[in-house]
Amino acid sequence: MQLEKEDNFQSFHLFWVDEIDSTNTYLKNHYQNNEDFSVLIARIQTQGRGRYDRVWESDEDLCFSILFKKSAPHFMLAPLAVVLALQSFHIEAFIKWPNDIYLSGKKLAGILIESLYEPQLIASIVGIGINLKDKPTVGGIGVSLDKELLLKAILKQYETLLGYDKKDCLSLYRKYSFVIGKYINYEGTTYFVENINEDGSLRLSSPQEIRNVYSNEIDIKSALL
Ligand code: BTN
Repeated sequence: MQLEKEDNFQSFHLFWVDEIDSTNTYLKNHYQNNEDFSVLIARIQTQGRGRYDRVWESDEDLCFSILFKKSAPHFMLAPLAVVLALQSFHIEAFIKWPNDIYLSGKKLAGILIESLYEPQLIASIVGIGINLKDKPTVGGIGVSLDKELLLKAILKQYETLLGYDKKDCLSLYRKYSFVIGKYINYEGTTYFVENINEDGSLRLSSPQEIRNVYSNEIDIKSALL
């Protein structure tokens, strides 16, 4: 497997590979030999991984992972970078909490963030997969954009967002939320999604109570009413 180094793009070090199992797995296994802000882009990814050990069907879609060695609220930055980049192509997408990207009610992109601790944080790998073609078998929607232009638009937005303070990121994350203002069914009760808290949890309300729920406690896709 041969990595082709492209000239740096902004603060990012870009590496393209013709075919790989998973860009996230590669950077997880090789974080020590790669610099902060390294980006690995697969022309073909054969064993893409999703959240909850799901398979991510990637084919020739835009599949890449970024290695960050410092802490940042990537759970907000990554989906925002994608949404804002799509906006520059006049595509209006939303963030389905915690960080799926939805367009016209269908999943357009998925994000897998994996962090390594020793015990302090030593690396976060932010993996992004964007459908460039519709995926009818899994109900996914695609956008027909140039892979490289879209990648660079996302990286540009990411770099800008890294300079924002957390409060501003949270406002944007709320602004593009697909779930705030919707109703969900959780543990047999119907709740209204009031907001997203600073720690990333959802603030839910029912006539009886107000409670917070974390992304590892709920499958939002099946909970949305
Ligand atoms: C999800 O929706 O569950 C997350 C999907 C993340 C897929 C991307 S594609 C690039 C990177 N490499 C992987 O193996 N997964 C992520």
